[in-house]
Amino acid sequence: MFRQHFGLKFNSFDKEISIDKLFSSRDTKELDSKLKYILDNRGICLIVGEPGSGKSVGLRKLTDNMNRSLYKPCYLQLTTLTVKDFYQAIAMLLGEIPRHRKVQLFNQIQDSIQSLYYEQHITPVIIIDEVHMAPMSILDDLRLLFNFKMDSANPFVLILAGQPQIRNKLALNACYPLRQRITMRYSMQGLSIEETADYCISRMKIAGCTSDIFTPSALEAIHTISGGIPRNINNIAITSLMYSTERKMLTVDEEAVYQANIETGV
Ligand SMILES: Nc1ncnc2c1ncn2[C@@H]1O[C@H](COP(=O)(O)OP(=O)(O)OP(=O)(O)O)[C@@H](O)[C@H]1O
Ligand SMILES: [Mg+2]
Repeated sequence: MFRQHFGLKFNSFDKEISIDKLFSSRDTKELDSKLKYILDNRGICLIVGEPGSGKSVGLRKLTDNMNRSLYKPCYLQLTTLTVKDFYQAIAMLLGEIPRHRKVQLFNQIQDSIQSLYYEQHITPVIIIDEVHMAPMSILDDLRLLFNFKMDSANPFVLILAGQPQIRNKLALNACYPLRQRITMRYSMQGLSIEETADYCISRMKIAGCTSDIFTPSALEAIHTISGGIPRNINNIAITSLMYSTERKMLTVDEEAVYQANIETGV
């Protein structure tokens, strides 16, 4: 209903967003440049961010744009997996038919990575998203799985992405060897107040609405409540637009944003 009311061709704050329409922010630029570095230099990279801060869309952009003659992206979203399930999933992503026993799988993954890198000159890029869900047994094993030639070579890129609690897990002594081998890190900061305003305005424009719907104080309120986290911004913007529509208001003011926030409890 709010789409019609504000003349939007589609829901401008929908979570389904195509990569070419992503908003460019300090976070996306920093993330892109760190990811470019790790692709060029290989090794292990850690991306940490609050839920909804844009980690997964950033990784989707990376894999979508990856040159397939140089890199093989293997994206794995961790749920609760045993070590063996985890190995099987990685083997499959590398294009293998997973072997049965854990030790065979371990060798199969290592052989596959080495064959890709040394024989086919393609760098495997293994992305483990939601890594904060990983049990310690998987984090322990990562270190061994990605140890090649007695740790003298890095024929791979390993990107670990997850919510801030991963830091606590990595801080444990058992994870010290893995932690020490992380050569690149990025922590998502969220959008600044100016970026939040630009984001909301640009989302409305993309959906075909050129007039200023959100008042300046509404945009400030959206930033304060959302903490600059894109998923929160989307949720607040949608409920604010709905709130104003129900009251037949032609703009979204600060009051609408705060009321919407009470409704959603973001
Ligand atoms: N640069 C951006 N441009 C436009 N929308 C974005 C951008 N970054 C994030 N979003 C929006 O925020 C939503 C959440 O982003 P994403 O799923 O990447 O978060 P996340 O950090 O992976 O969260 P989680 O830890 O819960 O998995 C996306 O679905 C998208 O709608
Ligand atoms: Mg995610």
